[in-house]
Formats: sequence, C-alpha cells, structure tokens
Amino acid sequence: MQKLIINGGKRLRGEIKLQGSKNSSLPIMAGAVLCGGECVLNNCPELTDIYSASRILNHLGCKCRFSENTAVINSADINVTEIPEKLMREMRSSIIFMGAVLGRTGECIVSMPGGCELGSRPIDMHISAMRKMGIDVKESHGKIICHAPSGKAHGAKISLPFPSVGATENIILCAVTADGETIINNSAREPEISDLCGFLRACGAEISGDGESRIVIKGKNKLHGCDYRIMPDRIAGATYLAMTACTGGEIILTDACVSETEPFISVLEQTGCTITTYDNRIYLRSGSRLKAVRDRIRTMPHPGFPTDAQAVLMSALVTADGVSVFEENIFDCRYRHTDALVKMGADIQVLGKIAVIKGVSRLHGAEIQATDLRGGASMVNAALSAEGTSEISGIHHIDRGYEKIENVVRLLGGDIRRV
Ligand code: EPU
Repeated sequence: MQKLIINGGKRLRGEIKLQGSKNSSLPIMAGAVLCGGECVLNNCPELTDIYSASRILNHLGCKCRFSENTAVINSADINVTEIPEKLMREMRSSIIFMGAVLGRTGECIVSMPGGCELGSRPIDMHISAMRKMGIDVKESHGKIICHAPSGKAHGAKISLPFPSVGATENIILCAVTADGETIINNSAREPEISDLCGFLRACGAEISGDGESRIVIKGKNKLHGCDYRIMPDRIAGATYLAMTACTGGEIILTDACVSETEPFISVLEQTGCTITTYDNRIYLRSGSRLKAVRDRIRTMPHPGFPTDAQAVLMSALVTADGVSVFEENIFDCRYRHTDALVKMGADIQVLGKIAVIKGVSRLHGAEIQATDLRGGASMVNAALSAEGTSEISGIHHIDRGYEKIENVVRLLGGDIRRV
C-alpha cells in the first residue's frame, strides 16, 4: 500500500494549471454511450475513478483509450447491457451508466454503486424517476433489473424531493433519447450538470434550463459523436487554494473556473487571504495567521457552499485565529477526517451535522489514514502546514480525484514523496 510522506512547514508558492473536472468527466463518459460514434474528450483528468468508468465502457463493448488527458470513446457497438457488481462497486458514478445504457438500449442490469463512505447513499430518487419514464425496475438478489416494455423510455414530468446531482444526471441521460419531453423540477444546479448538458448538446441533444432548477429535455431519435473540452475541477481548485492558504503561501491557479468557484472563494476570503480573479485565473496570497470564519459555514447544493470543499477548508481553519463552525447538510457522515486532524493537534468537536473548530497555533506531524477522497486531501493540506513529518496511508482515496497530487505539491515547493 502506498503512502505519502510530507515534511510540513514550508510556504507553498507557484503557478499551477488546474486539472479537468472528475465529477464532469464521469457522467460525460457515461453520456458517450448514447452517441453511437466517436467522442473525443479533452482535459479529461487521469484518475482511478476515470479508469473505472473506462472499464465499464469497455465491458459494455465501447472502445475507450487515453492519451495525454484526452479520452477517445467509440460507442458504435454496445453488446452488453449488464454491469457486473465488481465494476459497480468501484465508484458511486457507476450508477450514472443506468440512465445512459437505458437511453441507448432500453434495458440494463446494475447493482448498488460503491464510492466514498459518506453515510447512507441511497438511489431511491434515481429509481423512482426511471419508473416515471416508463421503465420497469425490479430488484432481485442485489441486482437492479431495468427494462422499457415499449423498447424506449418516455418523457415525464419529474419533481425531485432534493436536487440530487446524480439523479439529475441519470434522468438527463435517459431523457435525451426518450420519446417526448421530460421536465425536471428542483433539478441540481451544479456546474457539472451544465457541463454534461453542454456535451450532450454538442452530440445533438435538445436541453434547456440547465444551471437553473427546471431542466427541459426534448428526446431525439439519435445522437452523434463530438469533440468536447471538460470544464476545470472547481473542487481540486478549492483544495489547492486552501492548501496554499494554510501554509501562508501564494498561488496562481490557471485554467480555473472562476464563477463556479465563487461560493468557495467568498468564504475563504473571510480568513483574510487576498484573492483576485481575472479571466480564468485565480490568485491567492495568504499572509500571517488566517482568521476564523465568523458566519456558520453551511454546505448546500450549488450555488451554496460545496460539501466537497468542507474538509479542505477545515484543514485551513484548524490553525486560524478564533472559532469556526461548519454545518454539513448534504451527507450524514462527512466528518471522518476530523479524527486525523485532532491527532495532529487540532481542536474539533463534532456533534451530528455540526463541527466546531477552535483554531490552535500549530499542528504537528502524525501517522494518519485517509478515509475518503476529500477527507484525504484535507489531511495532505494539514500535513503541509504542520511542524514535522506526517505519513498518510489510504491514499488510493486521494488518487480517485486528484491527478498526481504529489507533483502539484512539489511544483508549489512542498516537501512530499510517495513511497
Ligand atoms: N440522495 C438520496 N437519494 C438519492 C440520491 C441522493 O437520498 O436517490 C441523497 C444522498 O444520500 C445525499 C444527498 O442526496 O445525502 C446528495 O446526493 P447527490 O445525489 O446530490 O450526490 P451524488 O450524485 O451521489 C455528487 C458528487 C459528490 C458530491 C455530491 C453533492 C459525483 C461523482 N459525485 O454525488 O462528489 O459531494 O454530488 O454535490 O459527481 C466528491 O467528489 O468527493 C463527491 C463525493
């Protein structure tokens, strides 16, 4: 098992180009199933979750290859509609293939997806939406067996009880080739949804309203392949901004998505960092000790503060001057990184969805274990700001979402190695 060894205490400084978005690439790769031709996806990050998606594509009969952050997917031949449990368990986004395979073939067999352990992560909204679109869904021996009795899904009016990102994506993927019009009320507004819709439009789909809470999809008989550039990863961006902030450093992020990162920037600015943006660049300078964030930080669906950035911001606030309070409203178990931060000297009290952080003057190095993707990234940040050496195990979690994190840290002058 690999580990990251980090000698903390260095101010990070430098310029980095942001990776492409994991959470856009995964549904877009699933969307390629619908095209029946060749899709060229540029700026696709090379991550273990992306390789999991490509294994699913290859299993279905598509051809998928990577070279220098470009994925080329040819979905001319789909000869399998069942995704084995082993592939489903590799990541949460495997469930997004349900809508895509149904849209292409009118049938599919999947099972419960894997992914980070962030509490219970049901798929009831996905299944109920598929049923509304005329899909017969049965669960048997752990398998979810779906088929469209009429050969094809039909359009429907769907009101989501919560703006679920995955359910919104699955409905869109199933609806773009369905018979008739689908309307999603209370749809997720995350930028990655708009990126998926941008890709599908480039393939000939008719979708409007993405980025708002009511998406309208007019089903088309056929889509075609396209060339598409994946948006930058706003959460990786937030991670590198928080990482630099907690080391008292300075960074220029290039190829960033400025407006999409705004909900995070507006909170990070309250710590006293200077942050300026121009075109697709974000500049951050962090001087002496950070200040605690005065208002409670509530994670919310976009455009609220992103749950995916909660852990990485916390890694900066543990050494800020004063008390900061988080309220985690999206997942019921997303504070698993706090034990590691406490082991490093942080003062954190967790009670249900609330975490109270009393800033300490410094952290010290420790042997710690990543328990999920963003929690693991927060440990890297904390280790970089700590005095002494830290050893982080469980880094396969981090590799799911950060492209060669040690190279990025080294480029910024951090002392890190993978062993
Ligand atoms: N939920 C249900 N039923 C459903 C679907 C969701 O109860 O049928 C609940 C979930 O249990 C959770 C909440 O709704 O409590 C939000 O879930 P959502 O469906 O919005 O999340 P997701 O699609 O599973 C995506 C990202 C997550 C990100 C969330 C929220 C991908 C691959 N994953 O997950 O990213 O935290 O949206 O923004 O896009 C990460 O990148 O580290 C990550 C976990």
